[in-house]
Amino acid sequence: MSDTTHFDNVVLEARNIVKTYGGTRALKGVNFEIREGTVTTLFGENGAGKSTLMKILSGVEQPTAGEIVLDGEPVTFASTNDARDRGISIIHQELSLAPNLSVRDNIFMGREIMGTFGVDFAEESRQARALLEDLQLPIDPDTLVADLRVGQQQVIEIARALSVNSRILIMDEPTSALAAAEVEVLFGIIRDLLARGVAIVYISHHLEEALEVTDHAVVLRDGTMTARGERADIDLEWIVRNMVGENFDLGSPPTGYEFGDTVLSVKRLTVVDRENPERAIVNSLNLDIKAGEIVCIYGLMGAGRTELLEAVAGKEAVAAGDILLDGSSILGDSIANRIDAGIGLVPEDRQRDGLVQTFDVGTNLTLASLDASLVNGVISRRVEKQRSKELISAVTVKTPGPELPIGSLSGGNQQKVVIGKIIATNPRVMLLDEPSRGIDVGAKGEVFRLLAENARNGLAVLYSTSEVGECLSIAHRIIVMRRGRISAEFTPDVSKDMIMAASGEAVTA
Ligand SMILES: Nc1ncnc2c1ncn2[C@@H]1O[C@H](COP(=O)(O)OP(=O)(O)OP(=O)(O)O)[C@@H](O)[C@H]1O
Ligand SMILES: [Mg+2]
Repeated sequence: MSDTTHFDNVVLEARNIVKTYGGTRALKGVNFEIREGTVTTLFGENGAGKSTLMKILSGVEQPTAGEIVLDGEPVTFASTNDARDRGISIIHQELSLAPNLSVRDNIFMGREIMGTFGVDFAEESRQARALLEDLQLPIDPDTLVADLRVGQQQVIEIARALSVNSRILIMDEPTSALAAAEVEVLFGIIRDLLARGVAIVYISHHLEEALEVTDHAVVLRDGTMTARGERADIDLEWIVRNMVGENFDLGSPPTGYEFGDTVLSVKRLTVVDRENPERAIVNSLNLDIKAGEIVCIYGLMGAGRTELLEAVAGKEAVAAGDILLDGSSILGDSIANRIDAGIGLVPEDRQRDGLVQTFDVGTNLTLASLDASLVNGVISRRVEKQRSKELISAVTVKTPGPELPIGSLSGGNQQKVVIGKIIATNPRVMLLDEPSRGIDVGAKGEVFRLLAENARNGLAVLYSTSEVGECLSIAHRIIVMRRGRISAEFTPDVSKDMIMAASGEAVTA
């Protein structure tokens, strides 16, 4: 992305970095360098070791072996504070904010601005407001983080990293929850930072988007560096081939069978803003989905997609209208009863709603379908373990076993657990809210195959995404939501531009 070559010195070098966790060798001797004023992009499948390498460079983790060289001098970082004092900061993949603290307190946590009488909250608020303005998120710094949507939380995570004037900024999946317009804002900021000579490391599974900022590309595979290239010499095909070792295609919607009866019917559904009941977030929306049908909802952030899905799952209050499952209203049913009736939601926020951090991988996978682990009325550990192993392989979770803590999985693999957990409940209707967040192209293909297979057996799928390409690869029908209403409906032979135009997004040729 940098358009000048007046910077290009190596600022930081990682030499022969090894990292082991118990029996897992996450990094097997990696050499990596970062240059000032440029973006080095790190590509690789889920579990390849990208985040681990970045955690080592930012002082979160210590290497098992190997050396970090900063400005030609070997250094060790005992902590993130240590790395930050040397000018290195990181935007974490898994949002690391404290939900019960304000936006301001999260941004300045651990390095409060001190005045004569303790923390200078006024000054912190002033700086927080300025940062948020740069990021075009005009919210009050006193807002609790818990009240923000994931996309907004991600912007706070970015603001926190930007609040330190770093020489090296590591961005681990900074845009996974951002809409296109917000990504553009971030890219503008990246350009400014590059012009000031900041060295950036960028990680993303949105490959096209990552390619847009790349100056140098590096591919990690199974803890080893397998390829590197300069922007002029690489393209999307190069990345995918080096990441997964073959050419890869997400496929097309499943065909060759008839849809069944209407399973889910949404009638004139209205959901209103809690703070401002005058404003309809979902506005008198009608939608029917048949057994076996995969429907994609495309839309910008704030279009009402999450609220529609949450209303169907029972997590969002309905102001007017009805929701029918097999012709009977489920409006009066609790969330739990809707799950029993066959409605499964893969939520937008996996940290908050999808996973129990204190449970292991296997328990998280089987948690929502404990009935299937019952033998004579009691939960059989043996059956539960067997089922978790089957689920691990069905959704291709990369882990040595079900007894590992969920936090030991790479980001993308945690997302696969959330999907597996819902598949395990054998739902009749599956609602997925941005499920491909952070999962690699290969895994995305696996998830699509799994959905297609279940659709063939009668599952009705409602798949919400802000990636147009996904709609075209998975859906029988594409609906576009804009300001709470359906603004267009397409079959998958439509062009990407037409879908984007219907969402209100500017189409750039
Ligand atoms: N704390 C931990 N304990 C055990 N294993 C771990 C731990 N942290 C990471 N790992 C393992 O190290 C490997 C590399 O994980 P890492 O998070 O670096 O992958 P990644 O390339 O960032 O993947 P993703 O694209 O999914 O984010 C994985 O096999 C992961 O399970
Ligand atoms: Mg990662």
